[in-house]
Amino acid sequence: MIIDCDPGIDDALAIVLAHGSPALEIAGITTVGGNVELERTTDNALRLREFLGFTGVPVAAGSAGALLRSRVNAAGVHGVTGLGEARLPAPALPATGGHAVDLIIETLRADPGGVDLVAIGPLSNVALAVLREPRVVEWARGLTILGGSYTRGNFSPAAEFNIAADPEAAAIVFAAGWTVTMIGLDVSRRAVATRAVADRMAATGRLGTDLLLPCVRFHGMITAEEGPAIHDACAVAHLIDPSLITLEPAVVDVETAGRFTSGMTVTDFRLRDRVPNALVGTSLDVDRFWELLLAVYARVGEG
Ligand code: BDR
Ligand code: CA
Repeated sequence: MIIDCDPGIDDALAIVLAHGSPALEIAGITTVGGNVELERTTDNALRLREFLGFTGVPVAAGSAGALLRSRVNAAGVHGVTGLGEARLPAPALPATGGHAVDLIIETLRADPGGVDLVAIGPLSNVALAVLREPRVVEWARGLTILGGSYTRGNFSPAAEFNIAADPEAAAIVFAAGWTVTMIGLDVSRRAVATRAVADRMAATGRLGTDLLLPCVRFHGMITAEEGPAIHDACAVAHLIDPSLITLEPAVVDVETAGRFTSGMTVTDFRLRDRVPNALVGTSLDVDRFWELLLAVYARVGEG
């Protein structure tokens, strides 16, 4: 899989899951400006790569911001560095000299039908890859995104952050001719790291003390019922075990013109005479989701 991301607290936890799962292999990590500036998201990806020890995997920096709009960020949610209170060592190794869009295109070209593209940040890089090489749509085994919502937003009442950060890119991606697996807030809001989850993270050694807990604790209160939603891990968990998330076919259009609704993923489950362009997540088996994550985190923690 290629992970296109903007780490990001939940991006980091998704990357640990992908790295630690025997079912997955990370072929490349591409970064995009989103939660924090591109320089930070790339630096965080490099820190995670060395902390977790997958230094053979290329990391490439991509688009610093949206195709057409001024930049937004979510530093209020992810902290100034993007990784909450985590302070991982500075990376010794640099990113590849190439651009993220090239890494996406060349990785997919090299193994048509063999590589999943998972996008857990704004869709700027994916849209640019589609525009530059439309055949990526055929080459990718699939595109799974964490983004959108068919109910409420988090960036605005109507829009989820990753889509709202670059609505034109999202519109390009949804109209590209592939079936996008859209795992949105409707599902990911349920992936809450409660006290019981944090306690088990604490038992994963340095992984827990240096990364997992400083990430989840940054959000503040963790109680028996409340805590941060680990959105991005849902997209990776879906690839490991598709039975965790129920998907339903739909037509998804991205609102780019609305004064109050820009970035809204207008989701029509009725289909009528239109061909679905998305499989949309509608429910999450929360208990099995956490069992999967905590088992992988325990294994990674054991080294
Ligand atoms: C998404 O927005 C970002 O802040 C998170 O990393 C996640 O990808 C959730 O709306
Ligand atoms: Ca993200």
